[in-house]
Amino acid sequence: MGSKVRESRLKAAVKKMMPFGMQKFIYKNIVRKARNLKLKSQKKIIKESIKKELIKIGLKKGDAVIVHSSLSRIGFIEDGADSLIDAFLEVVGEDGLLVMPAFSALNYDESKKIYIFDVKNTPAYAGAVPETFRKRKWVFRSISPTHSLIAYGKKAKWFTEGQEKCDNPYGKEGPFYKLLELDAKIFLIGVDQLANSSIHIVEDKYKDFPIKVWTEKSKVLVIYPDGSRKIIYARWHIPNLYKKRDNNMLEKPFLEEKLMRIYPFFNTEVRVIRVKDVADCMERLAKKKITIYNPEAYKST
Ligand SMILES: CC(C)(COP(=O)(O)OP(=O)(O)OC[C@H]1O[C@@H](n2cnc3c(N)ncnc32)[C@H](O)[C@@H]1OP(=O)(O)O)[C@@H](O)C(=O)NCCC(=O)NCCS
Repeated sequence: MGSKVRESRLKAAVKKMMPFGMQKFIYKNIVRKARNLKLKSQKKIIKESIKKELIKIGLKKGDAVIVHSSLSRIGFIEDGADSLIDAFLEVVGEDGLLVMPAFSALNYDESKKIYIFDVKNTPAYAGAVPETFRKRKWVFRSISPTHSLIAYGKKAKWFTEGQEKCDNPYGKEGPFYKLLELDAKIFLIGVDQLANSSIHIVEDKYKDFPIKVWTEKSKVLVIYPDGSRKIIYARWHIPNLYKKRDNNMLEKPFLEEKLMRIYPFFNTEVRVIRVKDVADCMERLAKKKITIYNPEAYKST
């Protein structure tokens, strides 16, 4: 089945040849306008229909779920991101936990020579849905200048605690391990493994992970929502490492081992897989020295 969420090779090649400024100009003035005109001409999707689809796909009351999304790929939703968020919250109910990425760009204060992470105000770059979710009341955010997660539910406070104490953003005391503990499901809506943050859990969990992926620790000033401040020390991924990465090499093992299912979801598709299955499958691969950083090793098996 051809992927409905992957950029075509031609589009990727054209983009590669264009300077970033030109890409931005074309997106803002042509692509975005055309896309939004097309979206608005479509029949509106309502929250109740989204809930029905989520239940059909297997989302249940009490589930813990991490959602990565492209809003525009779904189709024109009445009340946009809020409807999607509410649909998830209403299906998982009060005992469930809704999690999203609130990953952010590093913010370095040149005058103070320190990185700054402002829990309330540092924006996330993971799309309109997490940004809307992040600003809601009672949504908790974990402490990482790069890999923060946001969560809502009875367990949200506990879930988001501890990342600042970890050796790296995927460490044992942080929220990514709690996704394992809660046997959380991953919903990739209109996106593929490029958006699947849980694929990095193995980089902490498998102690003999064959590639060095983390930077040295840097000093970060955290500004908490109540205005208090604290210094932490954090690592993040080595810059430029992403150029070697091919996250989508994982689609094959995930599908072949029947760990992931792809369902139609309005105008797009949704990939559903358990966090535990992602971590276990990637650990099995890493033991054979196959990682997303050397995808050619998988191709040759
Ligand atoms: C980058 C990414 C977010 C882009 O997806 P996108 O659909 O273009 O953008 P968003 O999800 O932010 O949705 C905003 C778009 O939805 C569309 N939109 C607006 N209202 C809408 C509505 N009511 N219904 C549906 N779409 C609507 C608009 O086109 C809007 O774009 P604009 O603000 O430029 O006009 C997506 O491809 C992606 O990668 N998502 C996963 C991110 C992630 O989880 N990363 C891992 C950790 S960083």
